[in-house]
Amino acid sequence: MTILVTGGAGFIGSNFVLDWLAQHDEPVVNLDKLTYAGNLNNLAGIEGDPRHHFVRGDIGDGELVGRLLRAHSVRAVLNLAAESHVDRSIAGPAAFIETNVAGTFRLLEAVRLYWGQLGQDRRQAFRFLHVSTDEVYGSLDAGAAASDEEHRYAPNSPYSASKAASDHLVRAWHHTYGLPVLTTNCSNNYGPFHFPEKLIPLVIFNALAGKPLPVYGDGRQVRDWLYVLDHCSALRRVLEAGRPGETYNIGSSNQVANIDVVHAVCAVLDELRPRPDGLSYAAQVSFVKDRPGHDRRYAVDAGKLERELGWRPAEMFETGLRKTVVWYLAHGDWVRGVTSGAYRDWVAQHYASERGAP
Ligand code: NAD
Ligand code: DAU
Repeated sequence: MTILVTGGAGFIGSNFVLDWLAQHDEPVVNLDKLTYAGNLNNLAGIEGDPRHHFVRGDIGDGELVGRLLRAHSVRAVLNLAAESHVDRSIAGPAAFIETNVAGTFRLLEAVRLYWGQLGQDRRQAFRFLHVSTDEVYGSLDAGAAASDEEHRYAPNSPYSASKAASDHLVRAWHHTYGLPVLTTNCSNNYGPFHFPEKLIPLVIFNALAGKPLPVYGDGRQVRDWLYVLDHCSALRRVLEAGRPGETYNIGSSNQVANIDVVHAVCAVLDELRPRPDGLSYAAQVSFVKDRPGHDRRYAVDAGKLERELGWRPAEMFETGLRKTVVWYLAHGDWVRGVTSGAYRDWVAQHYASERGAP
């Protein structure tokens, strides 16, 4: 048997594939379009591993997906492929609708066709796990309870709206066609292989490069941070024991304001790689123009996953953040590979023209 992972060269997808093969012998077909966010260096640790079969391609290519499903007798699909960055969705939403909405639709159709032709036992055992986000629940007021799975959908950005649309498609394919789907809604991840357009790796990269650390607005927006390997263990658990048609939140109740995240990264860097002038990296913090429509607070209630499937995160924010900074300091080659080409163009354009150079 084999699983098909989409988006397996991205941040969470590559962590998932590496972690899966460290725990299982079951092969992985890894389908990834290799957009700016896909990085084959993330998978260098399994180069030549016969259990890993990488294919460059689009989740919207139904013919390719169908061929892969049949050729590898796939027993489960984990859909991680997406456009994932909120700021990019504001600057150019079209790619988000194309991949997250239309791409998920085409993927569902290819999977439905394949699944419909399986024998009864394999049809029953088959799973389609759709990896989604807590952003579909929208922004929470300061004192409001964390969002559980019954929270109404209120996506506010083109990104979260596109993910919400994909969640609804997945739900409908279960309700109407009986496809055995599982949906997970996870909070902000951090850890190795995180592309430096996102807050934590951006702060690490900019701090070490002596550049400003851009904090949007007042920096008091709150995110619920989960170490990426905890997300991976939750996905494995949901795949293994989740009930088809159900939705599971994933998170670890680590609610931290952005400015405190930035200071926490600076504190670890101050200790492990002090600035030559003896000042704290926090001196590089620069408050810049806010993100349009910026959601104030996310927090997920992952109690259902703990109660029903016994999953709990292993990492605290402090320990996970330290591991993350240590990882970036130890992986200069990976960092240098990333700081070229499209990423540099994006940063120059985004921070210089739209927000004013911080
Ligand atoms: P990412 O941007 O790092 O990686 C996305 C990957 O998908 C890339 O490798 C890219 O090349 C690939 N891809 C994009 N379009 C594709 C297409 N049409 N066909 C095939 N491959 C394509 O994203 P990530 O942060 O790893 O997120 C993975 C998934 O998890 C996404 O669905 C995202 O919405 C969800 N998620 C992310 C977070 C987070 O904090 N990063 C939290 C919750 C949920
Ligand atoms: O909540 C889950 C989501 O978390 C995922 O679904 C998304 O794919 C993922 O990108 C992430 O979205 P965020 O918008 O929360 O992540 P980002 O790292 O872009 O921003 C985190 C917070 O930091 C957010 O409030 C915006 C702020 N920020 C971000 C950047 C890039 C800054 O203040 N400065 C910055 O330069």
